[in-house]
Amino acid sequence: MLRFAVFVSGNGSNLQAIIDAVKKGAIKAELALVFSDNHRAFALKRAATAGIKTLCLERKDYISPQSYDRDIMICLKEAKIDFVALAGYLRLLTPFFLKEYPQKILNVHPSLLPAFKGIQAIKDTFTYGCKVAGVTIHIVDEKMDHGPIILQESFKVTEKETLESLEARVHKVEHKIYPKAIALFAEGRLKIKGRRVNILDKPFVRKKDAPPAAEAEPGLNPENIP
Ligand code: GRF
Repeated sequence: MLRFAVFVSGNGSNLQAIIDAVKKGAIKAELALVFSDNHRAFALKRAATAGIKTLCLERKDYISPQSYDRDIMICLKEAKIDFVALAGYLRLLTPFFLKEYPQKILNVHPSLLPAFKGIQAIKDTFTYGCKVAGVTIHIVDEKMDHGPIILQESFKVTEKETLESLEARVHKVEHKIYPKAIALFAEGRLKIKGRRVNILDKPFVRKKDAPPAAEAEPGLNPENIP
């Protein structure tokens, strides 16, 4: 079974949805580590309550983003982490980090990308007067909120909508589709070609004569072409 880490900076409601999905067996992977860049993150408490190993390293204790990411990487390798799910992690990962986990980092974003990138996406959607809002789950690449899209779900913004009600509706969708995307990834059912992510009906099964490296490739269908 693949082992994964969730990266968090704050409340961790998405982390909670992931923990619940793992417990139910809906995500067939082991949530082996919760990492935070913020020791005050409530998400760390959620992880501890669920009995999941936690790690917190703060950027202010490092001289550069590179040295910070390098230390995180050492811990991920020690914990034998195969893939990473960002869930409200407020820091951009360095290219070094992405190279170590190519197409193996997922993110949840509270808008229909490519609209409203950045940390105020729900507020921006509301202020813009959008008639439709939604959530995007995507593979992380070197640009912010940019990589290939795994799942998106939209819904209509009502005339009575407030920012608070919109936030609640967005989070509800996140908690539904992020665990689903992680489950698909863990089952090797995502085939990525350029910006397109196809979802395979059946989990990938290694052909008898395929090289062992293909089998060892975590999460991703070995036919994936970056
Ligand atoms: C979510 O809206 C997520 O889409 C965004 O940050 C928020 C994190 O919320 N990236 P939580 O910490 O999971 O409650």
